[in-house]
Amino acid sequence: MLTRKDLQELAREKLSNHLFVVVSNREPYIHVFKEGETKCLRPASGLVTALDPVVKACSGIWVAHGSGNADKTVVDKKSRVMVPPQTNDKKTPTYTLKRVWMSKEEEDGYYYGFSNKGLWPLCHIAYTRPLFKYSDWLHYVNINKRFASAILEEIEGKNAFIFIQDYHFALLPKFLKEKRPDLNVAQFWHIPWPNPEAFRICPWKNDILEGLLANDILGFHLRYFCDNFLETIDREIEARIDRERLSVFKGGKETLIRCYPISVDFEEISSHVTSEAVKRKTEKFKKEFDFDNKFVLFGLDRIDYTKGILEKLQALDRLLEKYPEYIGKIVLLQKGTLSRIHIQEYKNLNDEIDALVEKLNWKYSNDGWSPVILTKKDLNYEEILALYRLADACVVSSLQDGMNLVSKEFVASRRDEDGILILSQFAGASRELEEGALIINPYDTDNFAETLKKAIEMPKKERRQRMKFLRQVVEENNIYKWISEIISDIVTLENNYI
Ligand code: G6P
Repeated sequence: MLTRKDLQELAREKLSNHLFVVVSNREPYIHVFKEGETKCLRPASGLVTALDPVVKACSGIWVAHGSGNADKTVVDKKSRVMVPPQTNDKKTPTYTLKRVWMSKEEEDGYYYGFSNKGLWPLCHIAYTRPLFKYSDWLHYVNINKRFASAILEEIEGKNAFIFIQDYHFALLPKFLKEKRPDLNVAQFWHIPWPNPEAFRICPWKNDILEGLLANDILGFHLRYFCDNFLETIDREIEARIDRERLSVFKGGKETLIRCYPISVDFEEISSHVTSEAVKRKTEKFKKEFDFDNKFVLFGLDRIDYTKGILEKLQALDRLLEKYPEYIGKIVLLQKGTLSRIHIQEYKNLNDEIDALVEKLNWKYSNDGWSPVILTKKDLNYEEILALYRLADACVVSSLQDGMNLVSKEFVASRRDEDGILILSQFAGASRELEEGALIINPYDTDNFAETLKKAIEMPKKERRQRMKFLRQVVEENNIYKWISEIISDIVTLENNYI
């Protein structure tokens, strides 16, 4: 099993001759005004957990959208700030966070518009129609150019590895390579890649494919997404595909297409659950919710139409309809995080979820019991771990998901080797976890309801066997393995070994 230390050593050893640059839309540290002070917050994000130690180990640079309301007040003339903020312990390694600014109008076009109304539904086949607006596209192109200039400014005269995150930056590799063909550029696409029929409706599909083929390595979570990408290339542009090497040659340049399933920091989560803070939160929740003698289902999702939250509620309804003996004996605690709320589909979904929860609670409530507790309150890391531990089952019902880290976090948190994972077959995580989890098709309400019943009735011994297996898988394939494999491939490529 690879550890954070192994990763840091690898980064120091392999990346020492290069500047390591990570690029993402969200920033790893955000400055906000709070209670009359400027505070630096670190978002609870799997990506930050994985990449923060690497960037620290090699004193690299992280380039991201400066979205905090105090972000501008702490940066230098080149929009840079050292993070994390230095404590008294001056030994804490730091790195440069370079912020890229955009106006509200630009954010609307690049982030809400082309990225999240266009590419997001295009790549997640969840039957929400993608929306392609030319003005959004122009903002997307411009912001990709702006990120390229910001990066080029920082790496002038230096060797660099650029590691780009996600669908917000499909054009960035091309803009970088046009100016600096010597750079090593890798990109990880954190969401699914759809089949060619779905992708072909995008008006700017060729620009996107050509942008991505400027990468030296393009990574996806699953082999299935790599295959979809190669099929798309085959149909849409003139390029040679080498299926043995899993690579694409275009204009004399090769792009390796690789699969790296992302994961979580198993060790950290597994040890943090035993902390006093998590124990205190667990006691607090036990008092707040009456879980005694109830089978507790837990869901933790961004409110997003790809997550299958309505389908989860419908399955619970079906279960109680079909098996009324469970009325009063089961509860679904669903945490929904409001997300991308300026987009109409997200607002509508939020309303639909509220309405369905109200309907179910009205239909079945008795003696102070209700089947669903929906909370949109912010929960901190310890609170989330406490809820994972209190749950009998964690329910992930995505209609489509690149990976889904909630399922892996849940497993990592169950140091007690108990708890059941109910997991959609359409979440990337199901490829690794299918043997230990109860796999569902969220579109099949009756079968989903039967699976909930199976979970409720599952003997303790089987619960343990399954969880033990799941823990072995996540422990082995942890987040450090994900990033180490990517770094090793980038370095090998640099040395022309691949
Ligand atoms: C997905 C994407 C990420 C994104 C996250 C949260 O996992 O792959 O790039 O950061 O959703 O979405 P948000 O739009 O809030 O950053």
